[in-house]
Amino acid sequence: MNVVKLQSTYDISVEVAKIITEQINNKPDSVLGFATGSSPVETYKRIIEKYEKGEVSLKNITTFNLDEYCGLPRDNVNSYFYFMKDNLFGKTDVDFSKVNFLSGTSGEIEEECKAYRKAIEEAGGIDIQILGIGTNGHIGFNEPSDSFTDGPFKVKLTQSTIDSNKKYFEDGNMPTHALTMGIGDIMRAKKIVLIATGEAKAKAIFGTVKGEVTPMCPASVLQNHPDVTIFIDEEAGKLL
Ligand code: PGA
Repeated sequence: MNVVKLQSTYDISVEVAKIITEQINNKPDSVLGFATGSSPVETYKRIIEKYEKGEVSLKNITTFNLDEYCGLPRDNVNSYFYFMKDNLFGKTDVDFSKVNFLSGTSGEIEEECKAYRKAIEEAGGIDIQILGIGTNGHIGFNEPSDSFTDGPFKVKLTQSTIDSNKKYFEDGNMPTHALTMGIGDIMRAKKIVLIATGEAKAKAIFGTVKGEVTPMCPASVLQNHPDVTIFIDEEAGKLL
């Protein structure tokens, strides 16, 4: 596990955008796993800037996002599909026919999850998976639990996740469930880049880097992955 501490969110975004765009320039049909939340937003801005300068084209990449809220259609402003369209895909030449998302409105959850796992496999696996981390150590929406998950599944969100994310729901109606890639899906990615900034993430980062590997801190499983880089700022790394 490679831990890189940088001065600012901006510095982190420059480095992570470099990793992603180099990957795409070396392999234009790369398969990229994207994350939502505040952590990767600056990185997405740097990618858009590079796209606008003609330094990278995203038109041949295939994408898989980590998770999606149950009950929110793609055109809902709080859906993660909408987030990705708004923060990256719609501002670049991403080919939306190559964008993959778990559907939060599918009536056939089990089929939906199986198909997503198969689609990742058929695409050749994820070259780089971007991750944020929850204050409780979750990655994707893999909340602390008794065991590590494997493939995509439906999860009941914990109170701490609801507390962290409810600010985005102006009417206060945040979904209580989501579909998420499992820990196995994340661990099968060839390379993983995790971004964490701010003091609220310090405990989760400590558990991830220095704690025992336990599903009670889901990100700790990354200690078992051969190619993980964790980008943190001073505050997120203050307990290390
Ligand atoms: P954040 O969320 O990037 O908005 O802090 C990360 C997460 O919950 O995984």
